[in-house]
Amino acid sequence: QHVPYDIAAAQKGGYDTFMEKEIHEQPYVIHETLRMYMDHTQIKIDELDKMDWHFEDFNRVYFIGCGTAYHACLYAQYLFDKWLNIPSFCMPASEFRYGDPKLDKKSLCILVSQSGETADTLAALKMAKEKGSKSIAITNVLGSTISRLADVTLYTCAGPEIAVASTKAYTTQLVLLCVLMIQLAQKMNCSILDVDSLLQDLQNMDVHVEKILSQKELIKDFSSLLKNKKDAYFIGRQLDYVSVLEGALKLKEISYIHADAYYAGELKHGPIALIEKGSVVIALAMQENVAEKTLSNIEETMARGAHVILITSMQKVSSDYDHVFKIDNIHPYLSLIPVTIVLQLIAYYAALQNECDVDKPRNLAKSVTVE
Ligand code: G6P
Repeated sequence: QHVPYDIAAAQKGGYDTFMEKEIHEQPYVIHETLRMYMDHTQIKIDELDKMDWHFEDFNRVYFIGCGTAYHACLYAQYLFDKWLNIPSFCMPASEFRYGDPKLDKKSLCILVSQSGETADTLAALKMAKEKGSKSIAITNVLGSTISRLADVTLYTCAGPEIAVASTKAYTTQLVLLCVLMIQLAQKMNCSILDVDSLLQDLQNMDVHVEKILSQKELIKDFSSLLKNKKDAYFIGRQLDYVSVLEGALKLKEISYIHADAYYAGELKHGPIALIEKGSVVIALAMQENVAEKTLSNIEETMARGAHVILITSMQKVSSDYDHVFKIDNIHPYLSLIPVTIVLQLIAYYAALQNECDVDKPRNLAKSVTVE
């Protein structure tokens, strides 16, 4: 008897696409990545402990990556900036390599690359090495070129990521970078407010992510707002801005809907001119200190006829909003992880609606090894 066997379907483990599978693997791979560098709530990065670096002597830190990895860098720089007093800069590798970064023996470069093979990121690392700067690479691929060039390599445990659009590699980069930034702050003798609650929430991250995945039908429902739309506007403030950048990138990559991300407070300086009846605005209000401000920006778009999807952890939200997705109140520096999963799912369902090949979007490559 002939048993039909489709190897590609088998590799997708019962999911329709690699991207769907990889989105669902996130609770597990986040847990595994944390397990590598944390023992309960104790951070343990042996690779750093081995180095004879004088951490307190670093004069500047650069965060460098491309695409989604660049967004992970923006997150890391945000944390670094909050906790440390050393000048820090975040740049896409393609800009860094042709700019005039002030590198010397006391600079530290932190490079993020899922594949470890992106040409611009490797060129940036080579430049840093030529100037004698120290380097830490965050990658997902054992033995990748970046891991052979950097002084220290830390690995995300995302497992192979097949879909071109990055999902699980990104969220594992976020957790690893959070752990690394805490460790650097400790090594540079800087104290972090609330560090215990931060570590506690990190440890429970898989549960928070699982909870988002269990609500995917609701997210699918919200995504139907994007049906037949040509544009979408993402807005947020502070750390939410990093999430909206990534949400907009994901949406355009796989659904081909034109999407832009704005600081909510910048809407009135231009983008609001584009808002009209039927525009779709995806708004984040996760950062408590600025959430109310973002709500008033949302109202300005609603007054012009926009449909809004609001993602928030605020307890009380007016019933005027048609689409509200509530997220558990977790540490504001970690909330971008569950938020990112919501945005990945919005992009995913929007792409399916548009009948796009989500795993292999047009014109894009998983790893860009040439300039
Ligand atoms: C390509 C991929 C993106 C990825 C970027 C950086 O453009 O399509 O999804 O974020 O490269 O890749 P890397 O492997 O360096 O993280």
